[in-house]
Amino acid sequence: MGNGVTVTTVTPKRMAMPFSVPSFKRGFPNKSSKGGFSMSQKMWAGRFTKEVDERVNDFNSSIKFDARMYKQDISGSIAHATMLGECGIIEKSESEAIVKGLREILDDIQSGKLGFDPNAEDIHMFVEAELTKRLGDTGKRLHTARSRNDQVALDVRMTLLDETAEIKAMLKKLTQTVVDIAKKHTLTVMPGYTHLQRAQPITFAHHLMAYANMFIRDLGRLEDTAKRMNKMPLGSGALAGTTYPINRQRVCELLGFDEITQNSLDGVSDRDFCIELCSTLSMLMMHLSRFSEEIILWCSWEFKFVELDDAYATGSSIMPQKKNPDVTELIRGKTGRVYGDLMTLLTMMKGIPLAYNKDMQEDKEAIFDAIDTVKLCLVTFDPMLATMRVIPENMRAAAAKGFINATDCADYLVKKGMPFRDAYKITGTLVHTCIEKGCTLETLGLDEYKKLSDSFDEDVFEAISLDTCVMQRKSAGGPAPEAVKEQINYVENALENFR
Ligand code: ARG
Repeated sequence: MGNGVTVTTVTPKRMAMPFSVPSFKRGFPNKSSKGGFSMSQKMWAGRFTKEVDERVNDFNSSIKFDARMYKQDISGSIAHATMLGECGIIEKSESEAIVKGLREILDDIQSGKLGFDPNAEDIHMFVEAELTKRLGDTGKRLHTARSRNDQVALDVRMTLLDETAEIKAMLKKLTQTVVDIAKKHTLTVMPGYTHLQRAQPITFAHHLMAYANMFIRDLGRLEDTAKRMNKMPLGSGALAGTTYPINRQRVCELLGFDEITQNSLDGVSDRDFCIELCSTLSMLMMHLSRFSEEIILWCSWEFKFVELDDAYATGSSIMPQKKNPDVTELIRGKTGRVYGDLMTLLTMMKGIPLAYNKDMQEDKEAIFDAIDTVKLCLVTFDPMLATMRVIPENMRAAAAKGFINATDCADYLVKKGMPFRDAYKITGTLVHTCIEKGCTLETLGLDEYKKLSDSFDEDVFEAISLDTCVMQRKSAGGPAPEAVKEQINYVENALENFR
């Protein structure tokens, strides 16, 4: 995507508010005034003898949520009109007037001079009606060799490509934040958990890099989803192409798509790309939610591994001591919303026959909600993480309890020639002794060790020290600082390769 005809994509400047649609109000009749599109103004009015019931009008209208595609709609129309002129389907002069008119409409929307009519059926009808208002009969030629079915398919693809690129940039930034924190904590020992029970010692960097890897996969999925999205459907017509000598390849080129869609029925009725994106976003939310859940635990007094910056926590209305991790809880909560959006899309599509059906208008609210939710979460999670204070002493103190060096104690015996199962049993007995005596493996006397096996020597204490346990776990992918540095290199390289 992106060349001469494509109007500027949504700028990431307005990150605090993931999307914004210019005003609906200015210069338009009030909704209750029965103004707006009367039957005689409806583009498809010829076939009908009665006004559409106002409730049906409202029910049918999608302008409230598809107006946000105005840039894409206008870019698509500019490319279409250009091609119509080049192919001699409309006069060159008319094509030029249409392109100029569309550019002016875009400017007027962006400057706030032109607001959306809440009574318009959708953004496509709105732009065309506005063009016709400005150009008269010439405006009426824009829709030659086109249907709203291929038009909306184009607009949604273009919008989602822009949104996917934005989300990718935000996720890349977050991944870099994770890596930057990891770089500072390759020596910060913490307990690793299974079943939320202290299991084996790791480092905070090692733990963080697990999330960096999840995000790299998310980025890969976003990129892959965008590849299948990047196909140009215009020219599919309502469902069966067109008899006009159009040049779809030219429109594809003008809009900067990779290629055209290959079948007109599929071109207008495919929404796989919405579902794929929503599924990718669901997975990303699942990762953010797991990360959030850990941060919630870590900032409890029971753990106190981290402390959130005051700017990213909230207080209680009644309990003066409280500092709550609301951001992370909201992310965990909002994950359900995105899963719901995915379910909406899958269910919407499962029973509809080819080709276009109005059910498909429901795609936008669901996928836009998923997109906006993910952007809100990313925009908040990143600085919250970047400003979070890590408390290495508490991580280390937690790692020193819970016998997380028991495996290493058993491994010590194995290295002295004992079969692992026997070593496991002896170590279990040692742990039992420690619990009875209220001490740890490090503070238990050597005599107690000797009682169970002659293989134990003074050097066992070195072998089970927390630092040794971490430093010796040098296997690829493991927590030893050099292994984690490899992981950091891998992720930073991968980040560079995502466009
Ligand atoms: N607003 C419609 C949508 O979002 C545009 C396509 C309308 N097509 C039609 N045949 N009624 O799907």
